[in-house]
Amino acid sequence: MATHKPYILFIGYGHLAKSLITNNFKKNYNIHAINSKKNIISINLKKKINPKNTSYEYIFLLVRPNVFLKESKKFIKFINNKTKIVSCMAGIKLSTICNLLDTKKVIRIMPNIMAKYNKSQTFIFAKNKNILNKNFNKLMKSFGTNHFTSNEDQINIATAVFGSGPAFIALMINSYLLAAKNLSKRSQLKDIDLINLFQNVLLNNQNSKDLENFLNSIASKKGTTQAGIKFLKSQNIKKIMYTTLDRAYKRARELSIEKESS
Ligand SMILES: NC(=O)c1ccc[n+]([C@@H]2O[C@H](COP(=O)([O-])OP(=O)(O)OC[C@H]3O[C@@H](n4cnc5c(N)ncnc54)[C@H](OP(=O)(O)O)[C@@H]3O)[C@@H](O)[C@H]2O)c1
Repeated sequence: MATHKPYILFIGYGHLAKSLITNNFKKNYNIHAINSKKNIISINLKKKINPKNTSYEYIFLLVRPNVFLKESKKFIKFINNKTKIVSCMAGIKLSTICNLLDTKKVIRIMPNIMAKYNKSQTFIFAKNKNILNKNFNKLMKSFGTNHFTSNEDQINIATAVFGSGPAFIALMINSYLLAAKNLSKRSQLKDIDLINLFQNVLLNNQNSKDLENFLNSIASKKGTTQAGIKFLKSQNIKKIMYTTLDRAYKRARELSIEKESS
């Protein structure tokens, strides 16, 4: 029955929030959401509601970090002594959230947009380990797999690698697709064949060592592969990847410092 399902409030209902709403998630929880217009909607009932005295088991922070820092006090009215806060925001430290919302029951998670397909690799951090119980584990599994971390900076690493990662990977793959199709207008390469190429390479390569061996086995000296690889290495592709991730990681760390100094 809908009334026995725990209530969850999403503060912010943008890109990430929408990707968290899977059928399984909707089946097990009553989800309410609030956006910048301050209307509260029931995601299950698909209509505006007036949820007086609703006791939220979990409140998800799904607004951008700067919005939270400006508006946090307005969110306190939704919290009671049972509510656990689940922050999905990049950068904003657990201690900052505890102080601004006046509660110790705060968990930081870093899911990604792949939650839509139950494929988020969600990184989780809390100081108060008692709130990371079975119910919370079950809730997180609605999005994909769970990875518990023991150090808050690991959330910043996860923000760069797993949170922003899907965008970096999409850009890289699409660059390959566009370049391949541009080689010759007459080649009429199909997107699906190029996407399958990526999937096929991953089929038999499970780790970095596999990929290294795979690369060495096909790049014969003075051949066509070697010519392309030589160019990629001359452009320092490893450094490009490192700098991409490092910029995202530093930005996540900056966001936490911005609050401390404001
Ligand atoms: N996108 C990702 O892949 C990703 C991954 C991991 C973590 N995150 C984190 O998730 C958070 C949200 O990111 P996003 O990409 O989903 O952003 P987004 O698409 O811009 O969504 C932000 C949401 O916040 C709402 N909002 C703005 N001001 C508000 C207020 N005062 N009260 C209530 N709601 C308000 C907006 O309402 P309107 O719809 O009315 O504008 C919008 O629904 C960020 O903190 C980000 O660091 C994002």
